[in-house]
Amino acid sequence: MSLSWSAKDHKNTNQAAAAGLKRSRNDAGNKVTVVLGAQWGDEGKGKVVDLLATEADVVCRCQGGNNAGHTVVVDGKEYDFHLLPSGIINPKSISLIGNGVVIHLPGLFEEGDKNDKKGLKGWDKRLIVSDRAHIVFDFHQVVDGLQETERQAQEGKNIGTTKKGIGPAYSSKASRTGLRVCDLLGDFKDFSTRFKNLVHQYQSMYPSLTVDVEDQLKKLKDYGERLRPMVRDGVYYMYEALHGPPKKILVEGANAALLDIDFGTYPFVTSSNCTVGGVCTGLGIPPLNIGEVFGVAKAYTTRVGIGAFPTEQLNAVGELLQTRGHEVGVTTGRKRRCGWLDLVIVRYAHMINGFTAIALTKLDILDVLDEIKVGVAYKLNGKRIPHFPANMDVLHKVEVEYETFPGWKTDTSAARKWNDLPAKAQNYIRFIENHIGVPIKWVGVGKSRECMIQMF
Ligand code: GDP
Ligand code: IMO
Ligand code: MG
Repeated sequence: MSLSWSAKDHKNTNQAAAAGLKRSRNDAGNKVTVVLGAQWGDEGKGKVVDLLATEADVVCRCQGGNNAGHTVVVDGKEYDFHLLPSGIINPKSISLIGNGVVIHLPGLFEEGDKNDKKGLKGWDKRLIVSDRAHIVFDFHQVVDGLQETERQAQEGKNIGTTKKGIGPAYSSKASRTGLRVCDLLGDFKDFSTRFKNLVHQYQSMYPSLTVDVEDQLKKLKDYGERLRPMVRDGVYYMYEALHGPPKKILVEGANAALLDIDFGTYPFVTSSNCTVGGVCTGLGIPPLNIGEVFGVAKAYTTRVGIGAFPTEQLNAVGELLQTRGHEVGVTTGRKRRCGWLDLVIVRYAHMINGFTAIALTKLDILDVLDEIKVGVAYKLNGKRIPHFPANMDVLHKVEVEYETFPGWKTDTSAARKWNDLPAKAQNYIRFIENHIGVPIKWVGVGKSRECMIQMF
């Protein structure tokens, strides 16, 4: 059969269409709803997913690993999720870890057991893990630390990674020496040989790396057996979910647009695609099945780790946002850097993701401020630039143009509908909406599930 597209093929397609076989955009199956971070992470994705997950049949993670930290507060109880989709709280929905995720098995079971003690029973019966997902080994985490030390020594600065082995695991995947869940559950002799080769490869790069290979293999075998009942062909599972009876499918993005390996503030980024393309590649689903894409943005900006941050406030405002917002990393316990809302980055995230609506979180944190600034444009040598700079030296040099708003100086935490918000807060929200050009669907005014104003 010829692989080139000929006039004859057109004829065949027309015949297929006539026979009713042609698929249109409208009958491509169920759509997935996607929740993505629109800044540098920790925007409150977990809370938005939790809100939507109460009605979801399937909640999926498609990229990242346990570098993510998603907090969900339900009935006064706080849960933090790293590898498990936040939807695991809903006993009626299935959670899926897709092929694009990198899994540290001890981390996964620790997280599950910790949540089990908090009352989240039966999580392992509701979890499905793709057999194509790559495994993060303990030595990947050690190497993550060694690479950070090396960067510090060579360049005088590191990335400030979470040291969860994310970079090294995705490097193994890209260099085709990585090992996947299907390998662990296949011929263990073959897996052991490839594991030893991988260890050897890293030891030749990092001579100080010591690995107790036999002990690791024994543990991995045990983890593999515990994992086995959860493992499926992720592509086929998603295909059936998309093409069976109507289903609500939710995808929980981890990390965020500005941490994306391609579009983020490289090299101060994570190692996966945290933008919408990662949903297709990380689950094995067609773009036609992407439905709503919700961007999550805080009413100000935070960042953990190193890297340019044009609206950062290294002053009393930054300190106030940090303390009032409890801006401490869920995964690493590090203080988050804080600054004014930067709409240049949110608009940039929208260019890439095509948000259909925005969830604006943590508005309540701004309640006490006399005035509030919003970054609306970047200038270079006194001239506005229309794009987000790729080069970090350039990004360090940009001058931010701000709009200033009067603070509302009112407690918004009890607001449950639009009309409960003070006019000045409404004004702030409407400005953001108009500037990004995307409707704001939710406004967050507190940690718990009910503290979310739904606008439409
Ligand atoms: P994620 O990584 O995007 O899921 O976000 P994190 O869970 O790392 O960080 C967001 C933090 O803000 C968590 O502690 C949430 O409980 C909290 N949070 C989310 N939305 C709101 C909100 O609207 N108001 C307040 N005060 N806290 C919120
Ligand atoms: P959630 O899903 C905030 C940051 C790290 C570091 C850089 C690279 O909770 O929003 P990595 O360990 O991924 O190699 O670290 O990326 N980072 C995050 N910052 N929230 C996250 O996830 C993050 N995931 C990675 O701090 O600067
Ligand atoms: Mg987080």
